[in-house]
Amino acid sequence: MKFFVDTADVDEIRDLNQTGMVDGVTTNPSLVAKTGRDFVDVLDEICSFISGPVSAEVTATDASSMIAEGRKLSQLANNITVKVPLTWDGLKACKTLTGEGSMVNVTLCFSAAQALLAAKAGATFVSPFVGRLDDIGQDGMELIEDIRILYDQYDAFDTEILVASIRSPMHVTRAALIGADVATIPPATLRGLINHPLTDKGLATFLADWEKTGQSILDK
Ligand code: E4P
Repeated sequence: MKFFVDTADVDEIRDLNQTGMVDGVTTNPSLVAKTGRDFVDVLDEICSFISGPVSAEVTATDASSMIAEGRKLSQLANNITVKVPLTWDGLKACKTLTGEGSMVNVTLCFSAAQALLAAKAGATFVSPFVGRLDDIGQDGMELIEDIRILYDQYDAFDTEILVASIRSPMHVTRAALIGADVATIPPATLRGLINHPLTDKGLATFLADWEKTGQSILDK
């Protein structure tokens, strides 16, 4: 499963990229607003060191304006993925933009029926939001299971399931067990994936025992 980082904070992306775990980036208007920076400057900077897909969301709501915005965003770098909302206009824009060779991420997906439409519109990625479903008392991961089953019925569908609105390491693990193609993960959650108290405890014991031997590997 690929890991994308779900942030527009360039320093966070740069730092996490050094772990070798970053296969791409997703941004949205709220994440960009949080940075207080110019959208195009942020995208240019991310694309200067990330070669995987970098999602950039349109803000128009009618198809022709979404297409115009998508074309503009696509010109910034060849790894820009145009993000469109899961509306009829968004799906029209998706069809046109993928037809022109752009990658498109259809976002704000909350049902298997919507995911079916995204695949039929030729989306490169569909983004089901698991955390926001959990927030209203539904199991977001059940949606990922349903979409996986649905997409696996049809060889013609090559849309990747990009699990979004991830809130915990458990979301990431469950997404991988289901066979989702991508998880887009907030920086703090990505860092949290490594945590286990028995790892820390075990390492402390090994180091304490090693010190008692008085040896140094580099002196050998
Ligand atoms: C990413 O593509 C989504 O916009 C993002 O994961 C939404 O996350 P949130 O529900 O935590 O805002």
